[in-house]
Amino acid sequence: MAATLLPTLSPPASRAAALLLLRRAPPKPFRAPAPLLRRVLAPGPSLPVRSPTFRSSLATMPSTAAAAASGSRADLLMLGIETSCDDTAAAVVRGDGEILSQVVSSQEDLLVKWGGVSPKMAEEAHALAIDQVVQKALDDANVSESDLSAVAVTVGPGLSLCLRVGVHKARQIAKAFRLPIVGVHHMEAHALVSRLVNKDLDFPFLALLISGGHNLLVLAHGLGQYVQLGTTIDDAIGEAYDKSARWLGLDMRKGGGPALEQLALEGDPNAVEFRVPMRQHKDCNFSYAGLKTQVRLAIESRNIPADEIPISSATEEDRQLRANIAASFQRVAVLHLEERCQRAVEWALKMDSSIKYFVVSGGVASNQYVRTSLNHIAEKNDLQLVCPPPRLCTDNGVMIAWTGLEHFIAGRFDDPPAVDEPDDMQYDLRPRWPLGEEYSEGRSVARSMKTARVHPSLTSMIQGSAH
Ligand code: KG4
Ligand code: ZN
Repeated sequence: MAATLLPTLSPPASRAAALLLLRRAPPKPFRAPAPLLRRVLAPGPSLPVRSPTFRSSLATMPSTAAAAASGSRADLLMLGIETSCDDTAAAVVRGDGEILSQVVSSQEDLLVKWGGVSPKMAEEAHALAIDQVVQKALDDANVSESDLSAVAVTVGPGLSLCLRVGVHKARQIAKAFRLPIVGVHHMEAHALVSRLVNKDLDFPFLALLISGGHNLLVLAHGLGQYVQLGTTIDDAIGEAYDKSARWLGLDMRKGGGPALEQLALEGDPNAVEFRVPMRQHKDCNFSYAGLKTQVRLAIESRNIPADEIPISSATEEDRQLRANIAASFQRVAVLHLEERCQRAVEWALKMDSSIKYFVVSGGVASNQYVRTSLNHIAEKNDLQLVCPPPRLCTDNGVMIAWTGLEHFIAGRFDDPPAVDEPDDMQYDLRPRWPLGEEYSEGRSVARSMKTARVHPSLTSMIQGSAH
């Protein structure tokens, strides 16, 4: 038996009410919005669904204007849970975007020990941390489960074993307190948290999402409506930062990316001539595997003893060599981002000339050099850069709660789980789950052949259920 978590829809009345009450500005759909079907594959016995707060307040609202003035959006309270990779995170966020709490428990020690995320170890670490993390998020927000309007949880993409821990916890709470559940797409959450940060940010916008596992350029037409302009054909930029940092003997405890960014400040970015990837491909896709190899070769050819000697014990001369490699890597890695983003801006504006914003988010977007470089691209194209603060760029529960709120308000959520739902339930997890459909000009033959997609994209699921 499998339980779906997204996208589902409450009855039309509540959808209409939600739209009337809560719309900040009408999203610009690239398909006419149509009612979505409720898809609850594992319906429980007919217990009452706890009404979202806005629904009960609607009953007393005489008019749209009065409703809009009532500020009922602020009454919504969402718990967000994130366990898709190596951070166990939870947060409580109000419907108006006020962050009441944010808790993250990271697995740095495991990362140092295993040199990357080991799914089984990460699952155990999530399982150990999840109860405490969620409890602390509730305590810090000074709320209890019964105050919540719903629970949002990441259902993909990510590591199945890890996703399962968060989904299990979310369903336990939702079951006990009769709360609706919203299943969230991790990468959509990275993009949409920018709308919490900048309340003027309306669709459509262009987004670059850069993390440890993903490198995405998307045109966001509306909530759950994305066109993928580019993705990586091999590694993501975060993976390249992490591996390069490890090979350079950096202290990985605070993450490879931040360590490399720090060391790069001491280096000459033109000291090593790395090749910029994929210049011959006039599309918006990315590749970082080759640059990673170039870094490894640069370390080997200079006989840098990074394997045996950590950066903290390196001689001054050795440290300078490593810093030069770090700075040169960063320059080229980010130049690759800039080149693809420039083309993506052109493609996106061709499709929709009303785009005003360029969103850059995901863990790597917390890097200052990345932010400054991409701000140049934004300025050059008369776009406004929206880059969330670093702690909202790296994995966090706030982005899940916020994206949950956006979908909840649009009427997409699942009923509370059945009271007799077994603990060993097979959940509908989506480890490989594209965000949007590929833009045809951007399709890479090499990648289409390699990519076995397990789930249809979020966008196609939402559009599919609209017919
Ligand atoms: O979004 P995120 O927290 O988790 C994933 O969804 O993957 O991104 C994590 C990635 C890691 O590769 C990490 O090294 C990178 O973001 N990262 C950075 C920086 N901070 C985090 N990369 C470069 N510079 C940084 N300051
Ligand atoms: Zn992430």
